Amino acid sequence: MNGLRIPPGIRIFNSIKDFRQWRRQILLDRQTLGYVPTMGALHRGHLSLVSAAKDACDHVALTIFVNPAQFAPNEDLGTYPRTLQADIDALAQHFDHATVLVPQVKEMYPSGIEPDVSKQVGAFVEVKGFSHQLEGTTRPHFFRGVATVVSKFLNIVEPEEVFFGQKDVQQCIVIQRMIRDMHFNVKMNICPTVRESDGLAMSSRNTYLTSIQRKYALVLYNALELMKEMYENTTKHAPTLIGAATEFIHKTQQEAQTECEIKLDYLSIASPSNLCEVTGDIKDGCIMSGAVYVGKTRLIDNFMVDVKL
Ligand code: PAJ
Repeated sequence: MNGLRIPPGIRIFNSIKDFRQWRRQILLDRQTLGYVPTMGALHRGHLSLVSAAKDACDHVALTIFVNPAQFAPNEDLGTYPRTLQADIDALAQHFDHATVLVPQVKEMYPSGIEPDVSKQVGAFVEVKGFSHQLEGTTRPHFFRGVATVVSKFLNIVEPEEVFFGQKDVQQCIVIQRMIRDMHFNVKMNICPTVRESDGLAMSSRNTYLTSIQRKYALVLYNALELMKEMYENTTKHAPTLIGAATEFIHKTQQEAQTECEIKLDYLSIASPSNLCEVTGDIKDGCIMSGAVYVGKTRLIDNFMVDVKL
């Protein structure tokens, strides 16, 4: 790649064919491959997935690919952080070996990829019933883009195991269904959310935050904490918990008024089996999740309460 310094232990492929050749040898050597899909701008959250893959498998491969199909025309595809040199340096600093596939958009989407879904041509993957609610309300084509690119990568990488972060809990559920329904021969692992010391979930988009916004970015985590604390100590009635957390966010919004714009997108208490909102008392555990805009940055977070995916 142009001007890229490849640190010792890091192997980079830009072509799918070359990657597959490397992958085939691992199979011939009867060794296993763990796979971590990413869009780059790697942080400790991503690195924890690589660590888990290393623990479980003989080799680890990552993909770094900012996937156009999961960005709506009004979203941040153009400005999404692209930090490949820093990414491979971080991998080299933390791990002896890692292999990274960094493909081109035109190789990943041989039929092309139009931002407008109605104009798209070619094969796409949809996971019905789990993609339209929560994140899918604001981002209606997001999970179609994610499921499509992850299925492409599972076909290319053919890993024994794949690793995702709980940070994107609905993405985990969508991919879990896709793997099951499409009979991908891979074990899926879901790893815990890695947080900053104050609780903020790590995200590549946190780099968009100014220092004032960073202070208020905790608003969602604190709202989720409030719901969990009330669930454990006061009431299991979902609408009451949502009401209290909404009020907390509105209060923070007023406090921040002149310093920083905060906008609640959604708060949810949903059943993990169908992602439907819990309308009464929480009985068999739940997923508490939400999205908040801090300035222009959209932050998401979730807690899984008394459930495991
Ligand atoms: P990206 O946002 O780069 O995230 C890659 C993986 O890292 C995802 O599984 C995500 O859940 C996980 N991750 C992100 N922040 C984390 C944190 N704080 N703790 C633990 N894991 C974390 O998610 C995507 O990319 C894309 O949608 C992708 C699956 C690569 C498809 O394009």
